[in-house]
Amino acid sequence: MGAFSRTLLAGSLAAGLVACSTVKDGAAAGYDLDFSKQKYTEQSLEVNGRSVKFRAYEGIVYVRNPVDTKYEIINIYVPEAYYSGGSVGGFTAETAPIFFPNQIGGYMPAEPGKPGFGRGGEASQTPNAALTALSKGYVVASPGARGRTATNGKAPAAIVDLKAAVRYLKFNDKAMPGDAGKIISNGTSAGGALSALLGATGNSRDYEAHLKALGAAEGGDDIFAVSAYCPITDLDHADMAYEWQFNGVNDYQKMNISMLDYNVKRELVPGTLTKEEISLSNQLKPLYPAYINSLKLKDAGGRALTLDKNGNGSFKDYVAGYLAKSAQLQLDAGKKLGNRNWLTVKNGKVTAVDFSKYAKAAGRQKIPPAFDGVDLSTGENQLFGDAQTDKRHFTEFSMRHNTAENAAMADAETVKIMNPLNYIGTSGVKIPQNWRIRVGTADRDTSLAVSAVLAAKLQNNGYAVDYFLPWDVPHSGDYDLEELFVWMKQVSTQK
Ligand code: DHB
Repeated sequence: MGAFSRTLLAGSLAAGLVACSTVKDGAAAGYDLDFSKQKYTEQSLEVNGRSVKFRAYEGIVYVRNPVDTKYEIINIYVPEAYYSGGSVGGFTAETAPIFFPNQIGGYMPAEPGKPGFGRGGEASQTPNAALTALSKGYVVASPGARGRTATNGKAPAAIVDLKAAVRYLKFNDKAMPGDAGKIISNGTSAGGALSALLGATGNSRDYEAHLKALGAAEGGDDIFAVSAYCPITDLDHADMAYEWQFNGVNDYQKMNISMLDYNVKRELVPGTLTKEEISLSNQLKPLYPAYINSLKLKDAGGRALTLDKNGNGSFKDYVAGYLAKSAQLQLDAGKKLGNRNWLTVKNGKVTAVDFSKYAKAAGRQKIPPAFDGVDLSTGENQLFGDAQTDKRHFTEFSMRHNTAENAAMADAETVKIMNPLNYIGTSGVKIPQNWRIRVGTADRDTSLAVSAVLAAKLQNNGYAVDYFLPWDVPHSGDYDLEELFVWMKQVSTQK
């Protein structure tokens, strides 16, 4: 660990909780959203032998009427130089973009993050994303958000919380160092999905009533750029996408995830699909082509991305093309690919990708339906529950094939507002121009098609998408921070 010093300063006046003078119907208190009243500590951490000094404003409740103050809080960190007119990495107090990393995993409740060392729970000397951002002159604002295990954390709680946190930053733009017109969101997996959803739904009226109920700051919630690692998104079509990719792969290594907050415990349990599960896979796979064809996606050259009834066609070639690109980059860097029976390489060039052999080699990790479990056993079933019902279905297919007692279906509006694809290319939203999406070639938590569709839909609607599948990287995020920050600097300083 680097040197760590923490000094409590008087800072500005202590604030945070301010009792409402005119509280009706027994509401206990309202929180003050004025950032200038927040207190801070001065901290410093060492990165590569260099001391990174910053002010830490931690645990700020970002809505007037929170439901859960363990999670509806934000930590804000500002490079110390910005309080004496200095610049860091070419940024100043006026121009520094605000890096907005969430810590959400598994659609579980998440506390805000802190600058420090180690990634994904691993202890190491490596500065995490928040600390890296500070060292490069970004203001860091890490939001907490409610999650599925709490009755108050069901969909759409987490996205409403993230929007409320964005509104807090925009509301306080004058009082706070950093440019709230340049908020760059980052997240991994469920957190990547929510990062993408946050971008795709900027200023949408669909969340207004939810935000109002929390007493979120008035104003916009659009952001400047999105970084998403392995987004577990398009949940209402992810079951068919999974079987489009993994149908025929009947042995699995199921990931048993037990977790509290961000402390994810993962355990692989091997098994083989039952006759009933194989039948579900066989019924789901043929549903995907009609869905893909309905999206009317195109590749960068304007060629229609479609699938025939067997799941073959230009969309499959498009996904396979990203695998080929990843392999080619390895080869060009002089790295070995190892024994890959799904790749054909001739004279140092990748000439073919066998997608079904790739799926078999990657390995199935989920039992069909992968997300909307017929027995209501998945994390996503719990995400789509409500205050009365812990777990619900969110697809017609799984409702029809339900095996659980007293099963209910989530309401269509909630399912709609959890899916970014419903907003890209529609009016009434302000969507960032710049997107960076990363999914490792060894990721089996959702089909590669899910992120490929998100990337294509964004590109087709005129947004700049940096989409890439890093070679052999498993389900994870923040593994390429140097590249992430090169991209962030480029998009935030381009004219
Ligand atoms: C996450 C992983 C999953 O496989 C999933 O279905 C949902 C979330 C996660 O790591 O956040």
